[in-house]
Amino acid sequence: MPIIAPSLLSADFSNLRHELKDVSSAPWLHLDVMDGHFVPNISFGMPVIKALRPHSQAKFDVHLMIEPVDPYLEATAQAGADHITVHCENNPHLYRTLQTIRSLGCKAGVAICPATPPEALSQIMDIVDIILVMSVNPGFGGQSFLESQLPKIRTLADMIKQSGRSIILGVDGGIDQNTAPRVLAAGATMLVAGSSIFGQPDRKAAIEGLVKLSHVS
Ligand code: DX5
Ligand code: ZN
Repeated sequence: MPIIAPSLLSADFSNLRHELKDVSSAPWLHLDVMDGHFVPNISFGMPVIKALRPHSQAKFDVHLMIEPVDPYLEATAQAGADHITVHCENNPHLYRTLQTIRSLGCKAGVAICPATPPEALSQIMDIVDIILVMSVNPGFGGQSFLESQLPKIRTLADMIKQSGRSIILGVDGGIDQNTAPRVLAAGATMLVAGSSIFGQPDRKAAIEGLVKLSHVS
């Protein structure tokens, strides 16, 4: 059964405590930190994550879309992150960054943008815990799923199998009732979903809907 990670980016920012409660049936909460430099948007940062931490039982899955990233890893862990995902595109020392994340007691994730080939991750398969395929250009919620990313999901699923490790394969961007079955069939084991969960009046039903789809894929 895939892990569902509601993305807080599409939540009502004026009522975050209530929004957290509304998605409490999901095991993970996806938190997008954006800097207006690596991606063309600014979202929220560590003080917000820290303030939310006592109000949720979910694993905090923090997606850092910031450059540089290394100076903020410790603060991210201290704010309450369980997983820290960084990008492979803005970091010549990715391996060291992943080691640092693990030394902080967090699961180490790597996100890969639509224009980046899967081979970019071939040398970190022995240390990465979560691979996050971006199925939109990072920076905004509510964008359309990029079909072109499906072969990459398949390739990465094969690379994971070959590694012999239990690496989680997530997909982030444009995930809804239509796209979820396809990414699951391609080998995804985790789904990030923002607007297709927070855009619904009944968030619990939206989460259940994505879980149920996985049974048929
Ligand atoms: C985009 C973020 C996503 C975003 C997904 O840069 O990384 O996590 O919130 O939003 P939806 O599910 O609406 O595409
Ligand atoms: Zn994200």
